[in-house]
Amino acid sequence: MATINDNYLKLKAGYLFPEIARRVNAFAQANADAKIIKLGIGDVTEPLPQACVRAMIQATQEMGDRETFKGYGPEQGYAWLREKIAHHDFQARGCEIDPDEIFISDGSKCDTGNILEIFGNNNTIAVTDPVYPVYVDTNVMAGNTGDANKNGEYEGLVYLPITAENNFTAQIPNEKVDLIYLCFPNNPTGATASKEDLQAWVDYAQANNSIIFFDAAYEAYITDSSLPHSIYEIEGARDCAIEFRSFSKNAGFTGTRCALTVVPKTLTAKAEDGSDVELWKLWNRRQSTKFNGVSYIVQRGAEAVYSQEGKEQIQQLVSFYLENAKIIREQLTAAGLQVHGGVNAPYVWVKTPNQLSSWDFFDKLLNTCNVVGTPGSGFGAAGEGYFRISAFNSRKNVEEAMKRITEKFKV
Ligand code: MLT
Repeated sequence: MATINDNYLKLKAGYLFPEIARRVNAFAQANADAKIIKLGIGDVTEPLPQACVRAMIQATQEMGDRETFKGYGPEQGYAWLREKIAHHDFQARGCEIDPDEIFISDGSKCDTGNILEIFGNNNTIAVTDPVYPVYVDTNVMAGNTGDANKNGEYEGLVYLPITAENNFTAQIPNEKVDLIYLCFPNNPTGATASKEDLQAWVDYAQANNSIIFFDAAYEAYITDSSLPHSIYEIEGARDCAIEFRSFSKNAGFTGTRCALTVVPKTLTAKAEDGSDVELWKLWNRRQSTKFNGVSYIVQRGAEAVYSQEGKEQIQQLVSFYLENAKIIREQLTAAGLQVHGGVNAPYVWVKTPNQLSSWDFFDKLLNTCNVVGTPGSGFGAAGEGYFRISAFNSRKNVEEAMKRITEKFKV
């Protein structure tokens, strides 16, 4: 008799975004005339930069010609892309990252989950609360947790609240943890971490032999020049951090799929016999066994991000979404709502009015304004009483959504 991975039975019924989609579809079916505006999932709406489109068309033509056709590429990604990333994203900011330490993949979501395969099941794992749900759910699937309590908190995980009381900076744990997930600019709160904040985390990780999983998917949204874009801008991070990056939110690749993970060769963790093992070797082994790389065409599209034209077009895209975030912040603030984030991030974190629960506010917004956001409690117990509004949409839709919300929820 075949058996299942019972850990899956510990998961809450649905992953947050499909659950929202299910509720929205049910509402749409019952209200065929409703003009629903979706500011829920952080999915981009604007077309790909022309520099990327052109590069992908050219790459497609190469694939159609016997002379330039390509079969399997390197599992780690083509050297020409890794070199550009190392140079533009890291070395230009003073980070000592070698192209060999960069692994191209089809998404940070997959990588933040897959990375657990190279770690043991006996690690103490810390996540912020609220948190990107993938970090928690993949640990549940891997058997790294017990059951969830009524607040949805899993036994065995260390939750680090990020709340208005601590200015949305995650508190360094009092206890010793082995793996720590950090995401800055933060999804979902839109909060940022200063160099000093990250230095404190790196110091903690070095003192405790912990590894930080640093998700920098939203680094392109940093407008404050004093903020670090990479954890490797922090002294000591090469010895304690893995960084995840994506082309989804800067170049609009959510449907095109390209991302990267940096595993410095100086990073080690303990084997059962107490010896130090290079994590780079394990991740390289994992990727070359289970992954055949991102398509040549898509990698050429990602490479174009680093051309002069590509850089300008990406800046325009990011500025466009940041202007949306500004409109959301300003209009909701003027209506008397308490808002956070949205300055160095595409997410605005809103305190629900009149003590409404996150899901009650979700339902109210859907029913009365036909606007979809994301309930804060879907990101963790400490997100209860908050609501995330994404700036990823057209200007027209953002303005219309704000008009509807501010008319109904003026406090
Ligand atoms: C979100 O809405 O939080 C994002 O879409 C998450 C993701 O990029 O997977």
